[in-house]
Amino acid sequence: MQEHEGNITRRRLLAKGGMIVGGMAASSSLLGQSSSGQQSSGQQSSTLASAQSLTNAQTWPGQAFGNGLLSGKVAVITGAARGIGRAIAVDMAANGADIVGLDICSKILPVQEYAVTTRQDLDQTGQLVQKHGRKFMPVVGDVRDMTFLRSTADKVEQQFGHIDIVVANAATQLYKPLLEMEDWEWTDVINNNLNGTANTLRAFGPRLVKRGQGRIIVLASMQGKHGSKNMASYSASKWGIIGLMKSAALELGKSKVTVNALIPGLVDTPLTHNESRWSTLIGEIEATDNPPKNPTEQQAAQARAPHVPLKVPWLKPEDLAPAAVFLASDLAAMVTGACYDVTGGDDANNLS
Ligand SMILES: NC(=O)c1ccc[n+]([C@@H]2O[C@H](COP(=O)([O-])OP(=O)(O)OC[C@H]3O[C@@H](n4cnc5c(N)ncnc54)[C@H](O)[C@@H]3O)[C@@H](O)[C@H]2O)c1
Repeated sequence: MQEHEGNITRRRLLAKGGMIVGGMAASSSLLGQSSSGQQSSGQQSSTLASAQSLTNAQTWPGQAFGNGLLSGKVAVITGAARGIGRAIAVDMAANGADIVGLDICSKILPVQEYAVTTRQDLDQTGQLVQKHGRKFMPVVGDVRDMTFLRSTADKVEQQFGHIDIVVANAATQLYKPLLEMEDWEWTDVINNNLNGTANTLRAFGPRLVKRGQGRIIVLASMQGKHGSKNMASYSASKWGIIGLMKSAALELGKSKVTVNALIPGLVDTPLTHNESRWSTLIGEIEATDNPPKNPTEQQAAQARAPHVPLKVPWLKPEDLAPAAVFLASDLAAMVTGACYDVTGGDDANNLS
């Protein structure tokens, strides 16, 4: 590692380390509620505790970019309880939007090897939104359930009168070589991520079309632009989401509804804040099939930062939110069918 790169990496690690260690003790009781019975080894549960404390600590206050860029708008955001969905909710509220925050707030797959989202997480998002004087409607449910989504669309229209913005953000992932996957490990990830995103568009899209205006943002990934070892179901779901987004943009343009994809690089959220993800990324960087199984966060950060053009190991959720606010605003009226990369430059290695 060059000296300059190392300095930047160390500065970020020192800043992060304080936050994570500081939040850990406070989070142990929450961890017991949310992930009971899933992890037995001390090291795994300390990673889970660290991920849960990350959720509690990710309290980005939001940032206004102009005078009420989203004033009077109503945004429905799936997966809003934490991570990127939370940061988008708070930034949209800071820019004038009322928020409907939808999340499953429980285990997504039969086995989930990272911290499970709780109802308290969703309430914390609500508090951050309400600090901006905006309304927050929490909705607990599953984007795989069309009946639930359609009835939510009815309830949102009854409460707010209209829907302007839909952010299809909810997703999950798991790590397994393709040929070793159980059937559910393939189908459940595709069902949750790709079908769940399509369901969200199919349930809320008609409300935007009816009004002849609206913004849809889907969350894809860099892994939806290239393959990923041991994450084939996730990668395939994200490639599918880009195809879905482009098809929907072609169909909904005549109704003045735009459809775009936000492409995050690696972002530090409970989804990725775990040893499996860190191990996979070290394996990719070192081109080895045998990366360390239980690397620390610091090992992963030091391995990765030198390879990212902006020399950070990963992004924060709030790094993504400004692009979502822009895409949801009137400023983006002529942007549709597009992928917006917010990756610290990581995506410069890809073709498109
Ligand atoms: N974190 C990253 O590095 C990264 C990188 C690229 C793309 N993304 C994408 O960004 C989005 C947000 O990811 P994150 O990192 O904030 O993850 P996260 O796990 O912190 O948050 C995702 C939220 O979605 C919810 N959710 C998942 N499935 C659901 C379902 N069926 N119904 C309702 N809610 C559901 C979860 O409960 C969770 O609260 C995802 O689409 C993810 O694939 C993340």
